[in-house]
Amino acid sequence: SIFSIRNFSKAALPNDVAFAFDIDGVLIRGGRAIKEGTRALQFLKDNKIPFILLTNGGGVHESVRAKLLSTTMQVDLKEKQFCQSHTPFRTLTNKYKNVLVMGGFGNKVRETAEAYGFEKVITDVDVLAKRGIPFWPFTYLTEKDLVSAQDFDDTRPIDAVFTYVDPVNFGLDLQLLMELACSKNGVLGTQSPTMTEGPDIYFSNADLIWPNEYNVPRLGQGAFGICCENVYRALSGKALKCTYYGKPHSVTYKYATNVLNDFRREMNATTPLREIFMVGDNPASDIRGANSFGWTSILVRTGVFQGKENSEQYPAKHVSANVWEAVQWALTHTH
Ligand code: G3P
Ligand code: MG
Repeated sequence: SIFSIRNFSKAALPNDVAFAFDIDGVLIRGGRAIKEGTRALQFLKDNKIPFILLTNGGGVHESVRAKLLSTTMQVDLKEKQFCQSHTPFRTLTNKYKNVLVMGGFGNKVRETAEAYGFEKVITDVDVLAKRGIPFWPFTYLTEKDLVSAQDFDDTRPIDAVFTYVDPVNFGLDLQLLMELACSKNGVLGTQSPTMTEGPDIYFSNADLIWPNEYNVPRLGQGAFGICCENVYRALSGKALKCTYYGKPHSVTYKYATNVLNDFRREMNATTPLREIFMVGDNPASDIRGANSFGWTSILVRTGVFQGKENSEQYPAKHVSANVWEAVQWALTHTH
């Protein structure tokens, strides 16, 4: 094709652009590499074009994720190249000391939050183990859970609740988050008359659905957020005060832009990036966020989006069959 960059001379490649790639539905699907992804990442590495992996997934520390995805993609990726949904939480360690984290299996999310620098990190399992079965009689704690549970001072106010990744204990987490939202000052087992004194509440993404190897999309963390907002409204008659991170929210694009410009500075460039391309499969998160943040959006057909033309609700600048075609288009269509 005329857009093929196989014949491109290196000099013709733009040197002031960068890429952000979504992971699920763009680079991998159900844990397996999409082969065009390996080609795209290797090409950019070889040509020293900076890129970041910008995913609404998470649940492990970026260093762990980097190792896992390097193996899957067969491309060496660095920890700093990962912006997961919860990565920008690391900027909040001075604001909150005693925090509750939810989502994921075992202690991975606790370890991630501790590695970010949060002083005291409590999990949903810690709470159930400490306060006993009546706290939520519908979740059975396994031996493994009990081993992972840690003791904590349950009279100390909880400063903030962070959902890092899709909840494993959906019902337990809903009960726990509601108890805290309606509590006096974030203390477990208390109730505020106004129900508005609870801790600050963060969700790391608002994705209603996500794709895996199953034949239709699965419910994501956004479904949990909606449940929390609606149950809180039913309990209190008020809107739940909470903050969403992740795509399409600007906090995440801002964080990623800073990281990409850091990469550019490390390559001794003195001007900021001229254009950032986002390659994604989800119009409502990847494309919507990129468009409103001033990045150039490219929608691929290897994940959530399966439409014929473009997304009607959140149209991308361009639609490509896969991520390698997206990269080729981008490098031949810079501003
Ligand atoms: O939970 C949603 C997550 O799996 C989506 O990941 O990489 O498509 O943003 P990604
Ligand atoms: Mg995706």
